[in-house]
Amino acid sequence: MAEAATSRPVATRYAMVGFGGRASMFLDPIVRDFPEQARLVAGCDKSFRAFDYHLNRVRSAYSAKVEPRFFRDDEFSRMLTECKPDAVIVCSPDYTHERYITGALAAGCDVITEKPMVTTAESCRKVLEAAGRAKGRMRVAFNYRWSTGTTHVRKLLQDGMIGNIKHVSLDYFLDTMHGADYFRRWHSEKACSGGLIIHKATHHFDLVNWWIDGIPEEVFGLGNLAFYGRENAIRRGDGKWTGYDRYTGKAEADDPFKMDLSQDDALRGIYLNAEAETGYIRDRNVFRPDIDIEDTMSVLVRYRGGQQLNYSLVAYAPYEGYRVSFTGDRGRLEYEELHRSHLITGQSDEELAAQQKAGGRNITIRLTPHFQKQQVIHVQPDAGAHGGGDPRMQAAIFDASLGRDPLGRDAGVEQGAASIMVGVAANASFISNLPVRISQLCPIKPSAVRLGELA
Ligand SMILES: NC(=O)c1ccc[n+]([C@@H]2O[C@H](COP(=O)([O-])OP(=O)(O)OC[C@H]3O[C@@H](n4cnc5c(N)ncnc54)[C@H](O)[C@@H]3O)[C@@H](O)[C@H]2O)c1
Repeated sequence: MAEAATSRPVATRYAMVGFGGRASMFLDPIVRDFPEQARLVAGCDKSFRAFDYHLNRVRSAYSAKVEPRFFRDDEFSRMLTECKPDAVIVCSPDYTHERYITGALAAGCDVITEKPMVTTAESCRKVLEAAGRAKGRMRVAFNYRWSTGTTHVRKLLQDGMIGNIKHVSLDYFLDTMHGADYFRRWHSEKACSGGLIIHKATHHFDLVNWWIDGIPEEVFGLGNLAFYGRENAIRRGDGKWTGYDRYTGKAEADDPFKMDLSQDDALRGIYLNAEAETGYIRDRNVFRPDIDIEDTMSVLVRYRGGQQLNYSLVAYAPYEGYRVSFTGDRGRLEYEELHRSHLITGQSDEELAAQQKAGGRNITIRLTPHFQKQQVIHVQPDAGAHGGGDPRMQAAIFDASLGRDPLGRDAGVEQGAASIMVGVAANASFISNLPVRISQLCPIKPSAVRLGELA
């Protein structure tokens, strides 16, 4: 008996901050997939109702016994002292990350933070310093790295199929469902998200950094609010959609941007029922006057190794996805990933997935080495959110039996910094109209040239 007891793995004690839309990414695998290895001992949020919604959800979905203690946001330090977690998962809005990351590191905990790591150069410096002093491990949850298609690209580039990469072009388009949703929420305030050039593009800059094993250094950018916001709607003749501050209970029946928080269990449980506690309105009008982030962005980046990136992001396209091309000194690789479309009004994610599966065409790689025929590869994504990336990353985080990832998909604090600092520098360039050097805003291991040299 004694032998069996000592050979059982001791579960890692987790505390999680933020029980919103993204919480299920971490909560569900802890409860459902890794009950022997992981235990949620505490949760922290502005809202008890949001916390309670998620706890009830996983208890009934997985017949699980999970009893974490609840702490409000101003009780975070007390949570660490009283519950003594081994690791803290940071899943709250972006502007709150610095406080929770540095607090958890100072208490000796490991940290797993959602992207973007933080949203300003000052926060980035503080987090790098805190991580430098800490004994805990820090991990940034870049789930895009773990998807089937992006992993396929990394393998081809790592195998030298197009030689040394000199130029990358990435064109990302968000649609008027997903893209518009950022303009209803806290993301539409620069102070909360850093704008989409940080909040969203951190995924894309991280992918490029990881794909080409490079560290970005100099950034020039143009940014504009060209579609959302009151003035834009009025200018193009859509003034009729600007007449209410939020959608639930107020929107015109035929407003294509409306949403009703009362019609969905999760939206009601996490946001509508929590409004009295948080004061947060999740369904604000995308054509209101006080939006201060961009929806149209173009950025040029020069890497320490001399590679160049040409990046663009728009948030009001009629369909969603991205195209990226790499040109190396031995050929070219093009990658296209289409996510969904609202061209067919009312088409659900499931219907679209079935359509894409039938066609098998939603992810395409075109590989053309110099002086050779082009090879076209259709990639079928594995099951699970973000092209199979979420379940793979969950296993990497919670399954202690897995070793270090041979493809370098785990990202630490310096790699987190290398991604967000492109967006921070772009924000500065949007204002100054001048190129901005990242090292002048936040030094990241100056001697390194390859991303793999960064923690
Ligand atoms: N990797 C991805 O694909 C992905 C997808 C979505 C969100 N995210 C990230 O996950 C994080 C959470 O996003 P979300 O969509 O769940 O947001 P959300 O608005 O849905 O939920 C945020 C939760 O945090 C709580 N909260 C607000 N302020 C707080 C504070 N000061 N302290 C503690 N809790 C607070 C809210 O009450 C809410 O329950 C963000 O950093 C976001 O960028 C990542």
